[in-house]
Amino acid sequence: MVANCGQVSSPVLVLLAFLFLHGAPLRAADDTIFDGQPLYGGQSLVSKRGKFELGFFQPDNSSQRWYVGIRYNQISARDIVWVANREAPIANLESSQLSIARDGNMVLLDHRNSPIWSTNVTTIASSVPTVGVILDTGNLVLAEASNTSVVLWQSFDHFTDTWLPGGKLGRNKLTGEVDRLVAWRGYKDPSPSMFSLELDPRGTSQYLLNWNSSEQYWTSGNWSAADHIFTDVPEMTLADPSHGFPYTFSYVDAGNESYFAYHVEDDAVVAHFRMDVAGQVKFLMWVEGAGEWQQFWSQPKAQCDIYAMCGPSGVGTENALPSCSCPRGFRRRRPLEWAQGDYTSGCARNAALQCGGGARDDVNGGEDRFYAMADVRLPSDGQSVVAASAGDCERACVGSCSCTAYSYNGSCSVWQGDLINLRDTSGMGTATGVGGTIWIRLAASEFSSAGRDRGRRLFVGLVAAGFAAAVTIIIVLVPIIVVTRRRTSRRVVEGSLVAFTYRDLQLATKNFSEKLGAGAFSSVFKGSLADDAARPVAVKKLEGHLQGEKQFRAEVSTIGKVQHVNLIRLIGFYSEGTRRLLVYEHMSNGSLDRHLFGATSSSHLSWEARYQVALGIARGLDYLHGSCRDCIIHCDIKPENILLDGALAPKVADFGLAKLMGRDSSRVLTTVRGTAGYLAPEWVAGTAVTAKADVFSYGMVLFELVSGRRNARQRPDGTVDFFPSTAAGLLVGGGDLMGAVDGRIRGDADVAEVERACRIACWCVQDDERARPSMGTVVQVLEGLLEVSVPPIPTSFKMLANPSKKHLDFFTCLPSA
Ligand SMILES: *[C@@H]1O[C@H](CO)[C@@H](O)[C@H](O)[C@H]1NC(C)=O
Ligand SMILES: *[C@@H]1O[C@H](CO)[C@@H](O)[C@H](O)[C@H]1NC(C)=O
Ligand SMILES: *[C@@H]1O[C@H](CO)[C@@H](O)[C@H](O)[C@H]1NC(C)=O
Ligand SMILES: *[C@@H]1O[C@H](CO)[C@@H](O)[C@H](O)[C@H]1NC(C)=O
Ligand SMILES: *[C@@H]1O[C@H](CO)[C@@H](O)[C@H](O)[C@H]1NC(C)=O
Ligand SMILES: *[C@@H]1O[C@H](CO)[C@@H](O)[C@H](O)[C@H]1NC(C)=O
Ligand SMILES: *[C@@H]1O[C@H](CO)[C@@H](O)[C@H](O)[C@H]1NC(C)=O
Repeated sequence: MVANCGQVSSPVLVLLAFLFLHGAPLRAADDTIFDGQPLYGGQSLVSKRGKFELGFFQPDNSSQRWYVGIRYNQISARDIVWVANREAPIANLESSQLSIARDGNMVLLDHRNSPIWSTNVTTIASSVPTVGVILDTGNLVLAEASNTSVVLWQSFDHFTDTWLPGGKLGRNKLTGEVDRLVAWRGYKDPSPSMFSLELDPRGTSQYLLNWNSSEQYWTSGNWSAADHIFTDVPEMTLADPSHGFPYTFSYVDAGNESYFAYHVEDDAVVAHFRMDVAGQVKFLMWVEGAGEWQQFWSQPKAQCDIYAMCGPSGVGTENALPSCSCPRGFRRRRPLEWAQGDYTSGCARNAALQCGGGARDDVNGGEDRFYAMADVRLPSDGQSVVAASAGDCERACVGSCSCTAYSYNGSCSVWQGDLINLRDTSGMGTATGVGGTIWIRLAASEFSSAGRDRGRRLFVGLVAAGFAAAVTIIIVLVPIIVVTRRRTSRRVVEGSLVAFTYRDLQLATKNFSEKLGAGAFSSVFKGSLADDAARPVAVKKLEGHLQGEKQFRAEVSTIGKVQHVNLIRLIGFYSEGTRRLLVYEHMSNGSLDRHLFGATSSSHLSWEARYQVALGIARGLDYLHGSCRDCIIHCDIKPENILLDGALAPKVADFGLAKLMGRDSSRVLTTVRGTAGYLAPEWVAGTAVTAKADVFSYGMVLFELVSGRRNARQRPDGTVDFFPSTAAGLLVGGGDLMGAVDGRIRGDADVAEVERACRIACWCVQDDERARPSMGTVVQVLEGLLEVSVPPIPTSFKMLANPSKKHLDFFTCLPSA
């Protein structure tokens, strides 16, 4: 199977966006700055058709920092897409203005009338009057007043962190200058951060994500004109207008410049690329109905691949929650930003070093000392020092006041200043061989206070029998208990994943009173989150074999990163002691089995709805299999695990059972975890299991969507009526397939769609996994983009005619109710 990395196109989403985008009423407003008619502080201009607003804004209303910028005007998010004076905020709004200067440039003047920012064009003829115009593309242009088509300067040549459709992000071959998307420093701070996206300044056709313009942490690969993709972004093949993708892409390599550009075909679509505060580049599309930006694509996939993601002295841990931590002797520099998932402020020392005049002896306990931190990937910017032993290496570091750490593995490295890009490798296993030990310089007080704590605990033990113990216990233990309490009740948030307390979930579920369902290893309860408009949630209590805390958190973190419109979203979790709970979004229409096999026939799904369900499941699985760095195999696809939302759109649930499969590791799962009746033969045979096992289960579910009943049914005479076998026989023999369709919907079923669904379902359940299509192919077939031939009848079906005990058991084992 060729893994489709990061599938971008999601036509359902696209469709959603089309359905929900409402045009807001147009505001009749001026869109132009004229000479002598400036934009004063507090005022704004709106583009002709109302799409964008140019004005003064204050991202952080707790400080007097004002910016001139452009933001969306017709969507509720009002995101800022461009900032003029991102490095030089103005403090006094009232007397500031954006005006046309005498030299024809557009200029931002502060209350002292001094220029804060300017378009700074040197080639404007003095006789030509100019104007500033905000266009409906989000482009602010400085143009000739007599003919605004003559553009002298435009904001599209000076993107900040957002790349709007129609703009170019490229390299000027004459001057060697490259355009850069540079992230905001914080969610409320537009000043430029270290993260940027740019076309390779050395002249190749690849886009690079860089930290401080020097450390490259992602590349798109070169442009391949033949395939019309960047070689390391194969998912671009899916972002094709013929797949319902409303954008066109082009890479232009001309004599004077090369650039990549994209255009939105539909005027109602609101979308952009953004260089995110946390170091990822994202392609986002606005879905008004959902009131949020939907992420179509982002890179790098794994947060830990972002260089210096955890900021100065922060330590990154793959698959952990949160992804960053501070080493001993350090604390989070800006805890609020950390809580929002922006770790780039990093960690600050608890106590200043003595060396360098930071502290006097008596304050921090004497000469600085070193703390050995094992299992870390060392920062790359170490300097080699000749040293014969670890002791020599340490002395080399002690001897220099700017030295903050050293490492000795036979050769000596020392680091100056902040430690950048530290990674915890303890969970990575030994195979990677990247871990080492680093000795971090700390103030002596960091060690003596730890020593003091130890002494205090001993002391408590000794006098516990006596009266004094009570006092001591109060003094020593109460703060510890309080601290512990506080720690457990603080919600940790990474991205959208919340670490709940048990009490939160007791409250949310009214002490687990409303049970939605139960499986072999879990019970699910309905609840609602108090803090978010009483959002309904499903709380899953895991029972039975419980994973260790660390592994559980690692897997939860991975699941939390999986986001797709056809996959149930994990909102948060609780894990402590032996309790493991997962909090998911709640689906009002319950699981698919109720609609297909439920007693109340009134709730049966139409053919059209079923076809969309089939397509949605396929898209969700395709994403699971191919989108992340690690392929996730669901292992338990069945109607019970497909949930339907209010609009009957399907979402695949319970990929908590799925096991992470590294792309290079052998794809072997050793335990059978799925449900009989939907299991691929390789589970039973005990051979290696791949994503094709999900394809098999999917095929079985697809047959049930067509027939409206469980695949296997016992006839009164004791023989088995196996629908997939019946359907395969009809397909191969050219019989009347429509006669096999669920009687409740036979009348309105589309003949071509039924044929297509049955053919692809039969391909999915082939015995040989290599004969089964990938989920990506299934999606294309159901979308009608690929023709599918008549499948062979799987050998195991043929055996059903002459059943051996083993095969009968396998296929007829009905799923537990
Ligand atoms: C700042 O904005 C927040 C959210 O929009 C609002 O709740 C708060 O009252 C504002 N504070 C001030 C000082 O305006
Ligand atoms: C205009 O450009 C010059 C040099 O290119 C630079 O020194 C100056 O700071 C710029 N002025 C503004 C207001 O950006
Ligand atoms: C305005 O400028 C454009 C581009 O230079 C030119 O094609 C067009 O003819 C001009 N229009 C008028 C009215 O002069
Ligand atoms: C390159 O040349 C084209 C065509 O002459 C022109 O439109 C474009 O602005 C030029 N680009 C640069 C960066 O000079
Ligand atoms: C990209 O193309 C350049 C030549 O234009 C080549 O030197 C470089 O190796 C290519 N990079 C990759 C990753 O293939
Ligand atoms: C960023 O790069 C510049 C130039 O390469 C270098 O002088 C500076 O120290 C770097 N900043 C950090 C924080 O490493
Ligand atoms: C020691 O560390 C340095 C720098 O991290 C590395 O280049 C070198 O290969 C290591 N040597 C051994 C023997 O592991």
